[in-house]
Amino acid sequence: MLAAGLLVTLVLAPLVLGRNVPRSELLPRSQLASIPSGFSINARALVLDDHALHLTIGFPSNNAEALQATLLDVSDPSSTNYGQHLSKAEVARLASPRPDSVKAITDWLGGHGLSVESRSYSGETLTVRVPVARANAILAANFTAYTHDTTNTTMIRTLSYSLPAYLHDHVAFVYPTTQFDAPVRLGAAVELALSLRQSRPRRADSASAVPASCASSINPRCLQAIYGIPTTPATSSDNSLYVSGLGGESANPNDLQTFLAQFRPDIKHGSYASLSVAGSSDPGIPSDEGNCDTQYTVGLATNVSVTYAIAGNKSDGVTYSDLLNTVEYLLELDQPPLVVTTSYVFDEPDSYESVQMALTLCNYYAQLGLRGTSVIFASGDGGAVGGVSDGNNGCHRAPFVPSFPSTCPFVTSVGSTQGINPEVAAKFSSGGFSHIFSRPSYQDHAVNAFLQRQGNANAGQYNVSGRGYPDVATQGANFNIHSGGQAYDFTGTSASSPTFASIIALVNDRLLVAGRSPLGFLNPFLYSNASVAFNDITSGDNRDPVCGAGFNAEAGWDAVTGLGTPDFNKLLNVVTGRAVNEQLQSSAAHGLWIPKLMYTFIWTFTAGLLCGSLM
Ligand SMILES: *[C@@H]1O[C@H](CO)[C@@H](O)[C@H](O)[C@H]1NC(C)=O
Ligand SMILES: *[C@@H]1O[C@H](CO)[C@@H](O)[C@H](O)[C@H]1NC(C)=O
Ligand SMILES: *[C@@H]1O[C@H](CO)[C@@H](O)[C@H](O)[C@H]1NC(C)=O
Ligand SMILES: *[C@@H]1O[C@H](CO)[C@@H](O)[C@H](O)[C@H]1NC(C)=O
Ligand SMILES: *[C@@H]1O[C@H](CO)[C@@H](O)[C@H](O)[C@H]1NC(C)=O
Ligand SMILES: *[C@@H]1O[C@H](CO)[C@@H](O)[C@H](O)[C@H]1NC(C)=O
Repeated sequence: MLAAGLLVTLVLAPLVLGRNVPRSELLPRSQLASIPSGFSINARALVLDDHALHLTIGFPSNNAEALQATLLDVSDPSSTNYGQHLSKAEVARLASPRPDSVKAITDWLGGHGLSVESRSYSGETLTVRVPVARANAILAANFTAYTHDTTNTTMIRTLSYSLPAYLHDHVAFVYPTTQFDAPVRLGAAVELALSLRQSRPRRADSASAVPASCASSINPRCLQAIYGIPTTPATSSDNSLYVSGLGGESANPNDLQTFLAQFRPDIKHGSYASLSVAGSSDPGIPSDEGNCDTQYTVGLATNVSVTYAIAGNKSDGVTYSDLLNTVEYLLELDQPPLVVTTSYVFDEPDSYESVQMALTLCNYYAQLGLRGTSVIFASGDGGAVGGVSDGNNGCHRAPFVPSFPSTCPFVTSVGSTQGINPEVAAKFSSGGFSHIFSRPSYQDHAVNAFLQRQGNANAGQYNVSGRGYPDVATQGANFNIHSGGQAYDFTGTSASSPTFASIIALVNDRLLVAGRSPLGFLNPFLYSNASVAFNDITSGDNRDPVCGAGFNAEAGWDAVTGLGTPDFNKLLNVVTGRAVNEQLQSSAAHGLWIPKLMYTFIWTFTAGLLCGSLM
C-alpha cells in the first residue's frame, strides 16, 4: 500500500508543478533487479537531495542506416567514393534526430520548469541540470550514491526510472540512470629497479635490426625496428593525433622530456598540447596510463601534432559520460583530429539503458569516421573471458564479457602481442565477439574462417553472429615509461593502441603530403587491400589462466590478435598502390607462388572429387 501511495504521489507531482504537462502516466523505462555486482551503496549515506545532476537525454537515431552505409562507402577502398569524407554540416544533417522527438522532450522539460543547458552539435543529445530530489520525482527514480568496490569511485545512479508513456519512443537513453558503467582493468605498471634503469644499453643499432633486449623490454627503438616505423619527421601541418584521457587522468610533460631524452634524443624537445573537454576545469592528474599514451605517441609519431584531451573527473572515475563528452567535443571541431587513440575500455553492457547508450556512442564513432578520423581503441586486458570490473574471474559463468567500445564495428580495436622471433599473442589481449553489435560485412570472410575452425570450442560463451574483435595487434607488454620521475614497465593493450595510432598517423602524413585523403575509418581497408601488410600472429592465446576458456592465435584473423601486427612499409606500399606488384615479385623471388597455386589446384581437385563430379 505504501509503495502504491508513493507511486501515485510521484505520478501526480508533475501535474501539480507544471502548467502544460500532458496527462500521461509514468511508465517504467528501465529497471535493474538488484545492485549490479561490484557495486555497493555508499557507506557514508550521502544526502543527495540538493545535489545537481547533469542529465543527458539521447534521442533515437533518425538515420543510422544511411549514416552507416555512407561511412562504409567512403571507407571501402574499392568504392569510387573512397576517401570522400563528409563535412561537419553534412554529418550533422545525417545525424540529427527527428524534430518531433526534440520538441516532445523540450516541451516536457519546459513543463517541469527545466531548460536545456547544452546540446550536441548535431542535436542528438541534450543536457539539463536538475537537483536529485526533482529528478527522483519527475522520473520516479531513487538516485543513490553507489561505490564501485575495486576503484573506490562513487557514482550516482538509480535502479529504475520511468518516463511518461508518450515519450518512450522519443528517447534513446537518459544518463546517468541505470548505467553502472564501470571500466575494466587498465594496463598495469611495474616499477623498474634502479640498476636496470641505469644500465639501459644505448647501442646504435641499425634501424632494421631488432635489439635482443626487445624480447623482454620495449622502448620506441624496439617498435621502430619490429614494425619498420620511420624516425623521419612527419611534415604535413594538417596532420593530427589525439590521445584521450578519461576519468580526469592526464600526463606529465616532465616525464615525457625524461623519456625522450633517454629513448628519442633526436626529438628530445617533442611535446604535446593538453586540453579539457566539456568545460571541465580539471587540470587532470598525471597517471601511468596518460604517461604511456603520450610517450608512445609523441615518441613514435615523430613530429605529428599530438593533443591530450582530458575528460571527466578523478573522483567520478571513468564513465560513459567521458566517452560521450569526448566524442561530442571532437565532432564539434571544424577539423577533427585524423587519429584518436583511447586506452580506456568498459565491459560491453547488457542492460537495456546501457545498451542504448552504447549504440549512440557507436553511431558517434561512425560520424567521426565520416569526417575522416581513424578511431582507435585498446581491446581490453581481460583476455577472452573479460568482465573483470566486477571482480569475478569469469571462469564460473558464461558468456564471455567483450569490451566496449572495441565491439563497435566503426572503431579499430587493437590487441597485444609480446616477444620477438616470433611475436606471440599476449594472454591478456581481449578478443571475442559482441553480444550487441552484429558482424559487419567487411570482416565476414576473415571471421568466418576463424569460426569454422572453432567448432564447438567455447560454445555458448560467445555470439557467433557478433562483431569480432580485435582488428589488429601490436606489442603490448613491458613498455618502458617514465611516470612521476620513476621508470616503469607498463603492460596492457593500453600500450598497443597508441602504438598503432602512431603508425596510422605516419601513414596519413605521407598521404597528406601527396595531396590525398587521410585513411579515416580503417577497417574495410584493413580487412581488404591492407591485409597483406600485417604479420600474421599464429601462436599464443587469450585463454583464462585458471580455467583455460578462450581463443588461440591462429593463421588468418583470430580473436586474440585480429589480422596481426602492422608492417609500416608494406602498409605504405598498399596506400601508394605498390602492393600488388611487390607482392608478386617477392613471392616469385621466394618461389612461393608455385606451392600456393598447386595447393589451390589440389584443393579444387579434391573438393571436386568429394562432390562426385569434376567440372
Ligand atoms: C584496393 O584494391 C582494389 C582491388 O584490388 C583496387 O581496385 C583499389 O584501387 C585498391 N585501393 C586502394 C586504396 O589501395
Ligand atoms: C532508495 O534507495 C535506498 C537505498 O537502497 C533505500 O534505503 C530507500 O528506501 C529507497 N527509497 C525509496 C523511496 O524507495
Ligand atoms: C575511498 O574513497 C574515500 C573518499 O572518496 C576515502 O575516504 C576512502 O578512504 C577510500 N577507501 C579506500 C579503500 O581507498
Ligand atoms: C614538423 O612539422 C611541421 C608541420 O606541422 C613542419 O612545418 C616542420 O617542417 C616539421 N619539422 C621537420 C623537422 O620536418
Ligand atoms: C569533480 O567531482 C567532484 C565530486 O563530485 C566535484 O566536487 C567537482 O566539482 C568535480 N570537478 C569537476 C571539474 O567537474
Ligand atoms: C547475437 O548477436 C546478434 C547480432 O548482434 C543479436 O541479434 C543476437 O540477439 C545475439 N544473440 C545472443 C544470444 O546474444
